[in-house]
Amino acid sequence: MIMTKEKPEFWEKSFVEKQEMWGFEPSKSAVLTKDFFVEKSVKNILIPGIGYGRNAKIFRENGINVTGIEISKTAIEMARKHYGTDMAIYHGSVTDMPFDQNQYDGIFCYALIHLLDSDERKKLIADCYDQLTDNGYMVFTAISKEAPTYGQGKLISDDRYEIFEGVRMFFYDRESIAAEFGNAGLFEIAEVTENFPFFLIKCRKAE
Ligand SMILES: C[S@@+](CC[C@H](N)C(=O)[O-])C[C@H]1O[C@@H](n2cnc3c(N)ncnc32)[C@H](O)[C@@H]1O
Repeated sequence: MIMTKEKPEFWEKSFVEKQEMWGFEPSKSAVLTKDFFVEKSVKNILIPGIGYGRNAKIFRENGINVTGIEISKTAIEMARKHYGTDMAIYHGSVTDMPFDQNQYDGIFCYALIHLLDSDERKKLIADCYDQLTDNGYMVFTAISKEAPTYGQGKLISDDRYEIFEGVRMFFYDRESIAAEFGNAGLFEIAEVTENFPFFLIKCRKAE
């Protein structure tokens, strides 16, 4: 899968210009997922689209080892500056997963999947599932059709809009979540309000 040039440029440019644009507090979804992973004794997780690491911190503080994947070199440098150099972060696009042959007992993917096109989303879900241990859990957060931005911008394909230049978003509802995650161990869909209404999508890999 080949990334178009505009996507890495958009994120790299955003981090260069806006630096720590979401602050240092973890998202609500990260806090909820940390509680869930601790309850399930998850010890080793992958975070695709790790950004500058604000969501990684809370997992690490709870004894969970974190590996990241991130397309923006600047975001990775920021993560190293704030959270140290002992966290493995692969520089590249999730569309080129896998970056290692490790199996993780947890995956947390925050606000990334809805940025991808249909084939890329399908591949991300399959690649994450493949890197899960048996009985491992993966948690995705994705923007909902309830978001006020749904329907704005240029329609690209069903429920997918170019919101502004370089950013295309697919807006989920429960049906599209079931269709995309149904074969990947989907067992729970919750709603969580971040800066936008999001879905928290939980999957478990059966033995
Ligand atoms: C909406 S942000 C969420 C960032 C982060 N999880 C947080 O909230 O702190 C999406 C993140 O995914 C990264 N990203 C976007 N497309 C990517 C891709 N194809 N592969 C890897 N990372 C990507 C962006 O650079 C950004 O850090």
